[in-house]
Amino acid sequence: MNCNAIILAAGDGKRMKSAKPKVMCEVLGEPMIGWVLDSVKGAGIPDENIGVIVGNGADTVREYLASRGEFRTFMQTERKGTGHAVMQAKEMLVPGNNVLVLCGDAPFVNSTTIAAALNEHTHCGNDVTVVSAELDDPAGYGRIIRDENGGFSAIVEKKDCTPEQLQITEINSGVYWFRAEALGDALPKLSDNNAAGEFYLTDTVGIIRENGGKAGIFTAPDAGVVLGANSRADLLQLNIIAKMAVIGKLLDEGVEFVSTDGVIIGKNVKIGRDTRILPGTIIRGNTVIGENCVLGPNTLIENCKIGNGVTLNNVQAYESRVADRVKAGPFVQLRPGTVLHDGVKIGDFVEIKNSEIGINTAVSHLTYVGDSDVGKGVNFGCGCVTANYDGINKYRTKIGDYAFIGCNTNLIAPVEIGENATTAAGSTITKSVPPDSLAVERAQTKIIDHWEKNSKRIKKA
Ligand code: UD1
Ligand code: CA
Repeated sequence: MNCNAIILAAGDGKRMKSAKPKVMCEVLGEPMIGWVLDSVKGAGIPDENIGVIVGNGADTVREYLASRGEFRTFMQTERKGTGHAVMQAKEMLVPGNNVLVLCGDAPFVNSTTIAAALNEHTHCGNDVTVVSAELDDPAGYGRIIRDENGGFSAIVEKKDCTPEQLQITEINSGVYWFRAEALGDALPKLSDNNAAGEFYLTDTVGIIRENGGKAGIFTAPDAGVVLGANSRADLLQLNIIAKMAVIGKLLDEGVEFVSTDGVIIGKNVKIGRDTRILPGTIIRGNTVIGENCVLGPNTLIENCKIGNGVTLNNVQAYESRVADRVKAGPFVQLRPGTVLHDGVKIGDFVEIKNSEIGINTAVSHLTYVGDSDVGKGVNFGCGCVTANYDGINKYRTKIGDYAFIGCNTNLIAPVEIGENATTAAGSTITKSVPPDSLAVERAQTKIIDHWEKNSKRIKKA
């Protein structure tokens, strides 16, 4: 049987007090809706079967979605509730299909729960199956109302609960499997006659039952999967939970943490064993890190591939590849397109951009290397600059193996330094330097004798 999914992501998120749409608020550096997409895709639902309801900040959400795959989007121009949101995606209710509906603001739902709930749904022949959970603090969630036999009778929103109903700790996760026809029949019957004046999707349960349909519950074995964020405080809480969950998994895999202070690691990051993570280290995106590295303190790594035995101390690295035994830092930035080969050493206050740096090359201090292809065993003195930009175009610098770039050399690109060539300290190199030669571009030192006696400095004294 085919399955479709509808993700609700149009909400205003008033309680978040943010200018951006709520579903774009991040948990461990990833928008909440991104987490939901991962789980839906992970449950085997293909991109073209996933529809997202957008509204508030639709352009921002659409732009993010486009970066993640080819999903369908449906515009909800007015926010009239979760039921009204689903009404915008009638095309997703394909007869014969089961339809998963879930919220873009509850990031921890996982593929296992989605699949297990579908299993229950089809096994029991349900028209709707609601994923519920037992929470110590049911807070703002809709409460699951059961009849005297323990059967599922309805969902009541917090605002509409009686004081007794508020005591119920079994809540609606906001994740549902519907038989497409049953959902299609129930939607037009929704009313907005409730405390919020909205068309609640949750009311479809009662309507389906009145129509003679079957409503079931799948209770999530791990209640944590249902947690959602409506406010900044909720969001912080989700970040804390997610952070410790990721760190817990890495500890099990043999990664070392001396402290978790300021450490934030994205859920898709992979780290090899015996790598030590020091305080203030943030690792995001699709980053893969090898074994026996020391990362931090105060290091940010985004979408990088890092080898084994690498030390990054106070480094910011983006979209870069770092091979084995590289040492970088402190105060180094590796901008996108950087490739550091084995044994490279990058010292303090160095920026590398869109450049390949060969084996064992050292760029030790106060240097900018941009748009360059640097060979192996090259030594950069202090304060070198590749002048790669003339204000209009960018040009490349090529440096051969074992070249020696003297202190304060400016390399005006496009320019090539041959193998084993040397540039003298303070030179501004504007033309290519042949292999094994020395390029000097600076005035001779001029000596003026007896200067001290005649100088103003002495006269003043
Ligand atoms: C909803 C459920 C509640 C459940 C909780 C789980 C309803 C009526 N209530 O409450 O039972 O316990 O989720 O997290 O469904 N949205 C739209 N368009 C709208 C309104 C909302 O797309 O017009 C989207 C929001 O962006 C959000 C999701 O639907 O992603 C849920 O809406 P929200 O207002 O957060 O509902 P809750 O009050 O959390
Ligand atoms: Ca919510």
